[in-house]
Amino acid sequence: MGLPYRTLIFPLLRGFSSEKSHKMSINLLTKFGQKNIGQKILNSAYAASPEPIDVFNTSFQHPLGLAAGFDKGADALSSWPALGFSWGEYGGITRFPQEGNPKPRMFRANKENALVNRMGLNNPGALAIKDKLLARKLSNNWPNIPIAANIGRSSKVSNTDSPNDYSETLKILWDYADFFVLNVSSPNTPNLRDLQGETYLNSILKECNHIRHMNEHKPILLKLSPDRTNDQILDSLNVATRNHIDGFVATNTTVVKPNPTNAQSRRIFSEEGGLSGRPLHNRSKEVIELIFNHTHGKIPIIGVGGIESPETAWSSITSGASLIQLYSSLVFQGPSVVSTIVKGIKEKRIEEGFSSISEAVGYKHK
Ligand SMILES: Cc1cc2nc3c(=O)[nH]c(=O)nc-3n(C[C@H](O)[C@H](O)[C@H](O)COP(=O)(O)O)c2cc1C
Repeated sequence: MGLPYRTLIFPLLRGFSSEKSHKMSINLLTKFGQKNIGQKILNSAYAASPEPIDVFNTSFQHPLGLAAGFDKGADALSSWPALGFSWGEYGGITRFPQEGNPKPRMFRANKENALVNRMGLNNPGALAIKDKLLARKLSNNWPNIPIAANIGRSSKVSNTDSPNDYSETLKILWDYADFFVLNVSSPNTPNLRDLQGETYLNSILKECNHIRHMNEHKPILLKLSPDRTNDQILDSLNVATRNHIDGFVATNTTVVKPNPTNAQSRRIFSEEGGLSGRPLHNRSKEVIELIFNHTHGKIPIIGVGGIESPETAWSSITSGASLIQLYSSLVFQGPSVVSTIVKGIKEKRIEEGFSSISEAVGYKHK
C-alpha cells in the first residue's frame, strides 16, 4: 500500500508553487532516500513486482524508469529503485553550469493532469555532476539499477559549436552512466530543437561516436521532439541510424497546447514552455509507431509522454517501446503510480497470452 498521496500529500504540496513542491520532494528523497533505512521504508511502500526485459544487452527488472528532468542534479539516485523504478535518467546536464530561466517556470494544470515547464536546463554543469557521482561511487552508494544520463547543449554555446559541447559532456560523464540520451528536443533552450536537422545532427553524432570509440561500448540514444512533422522525424531517424544510434527516446515535451477545459488550465496553457502529461500521450505514441515501423523494430525505443496507467503504458509498449518512462504522473499520483503500472502491464501480458514483455513490444504492427 502506498502512502496516501492523492488524498493527503498532493493536496498539501498543491499549496506550494510547482517548483517548490518538486524541490521539497527531491530534498526529502536526497536526505531520507539515500540512507538504508529510508530506502527500506520507501521500498516497503512502493516496491514493484518483477516483469523483466533485456534491452541494450542489459537486464531491466521491468520496463518502467524515471524520466529526465525530475532529478536534474543527480541527487537522489538511490531512492529511484526504492520508489519502484527499474532504471532512471538523471539530468539534463550541460557542459557548463547554468541557472535556467527566471522563476516561476513550472506550472500544473490539475484538471488535465498536465505540466507546463520552461526550466531551461538548469543544472550545476558536467564537472560538478561528475564530482558528485564520483563521491557516490567511492562511498558505495551507487544504485543497483541501470542509470542513464541526459545531455543537453549549454545555453551559451551556439548550435554551430554544439558537437563539441555534447561530446565534452559525454566524455566527462562516460564512467557515470550505463547509457546516454542526447537531448536535442527540449523546447526551452532557444534553437536547441534545430539540432534535429541533418547537418547539425550528423556532426553531433559523429563527435559523440568519436568519444565512444575511445572507450568501452555504451549505448547512445537520441531524444526526439513530438512537434516536428513525421517527414522531418524520418529524416532525423535516417541520419541517426547512419551514425549507428543505439536507440530513440520518444518524446520530449510539446509546445502544442490542447483546448483547456477550465479557467485554471487556460491560464497554465498560456504560459510559455513545454507541455507534458496526459495530453501528450497520443502524439508520443504516434512517434513511437513511426520509429518502430521505419526501423522495422530493430532499434530499441523508449516511450515517454503521458504514461499514467497500465493502459497508457501497455499501449506505448505494443506501439513499439521496449522501455518506458514517466515524470508528470509521478507529480499527480505520487510514487504508487510505478507499482500500479508494473502490476497492470504484467496482468495485461498474461491476459493477452505473451510469455514475456518483449514479445508484446510493437505487437500492434504484427
Ligand atoms: C519540469 C520538467 C523538466 C524536464 N527536464 C528535461 C530535461 O532536462 N531533459 C529532457 O530530455 N527532458 C526533460 N523533461 C521531459 C521529460 O523527460 C519527458 O520527456 C516529458 O515530461 C514527457 O513525459 P511525462 O508526460 O511522463 O511527463 C522535463 C519535463 C519536465 C516536466
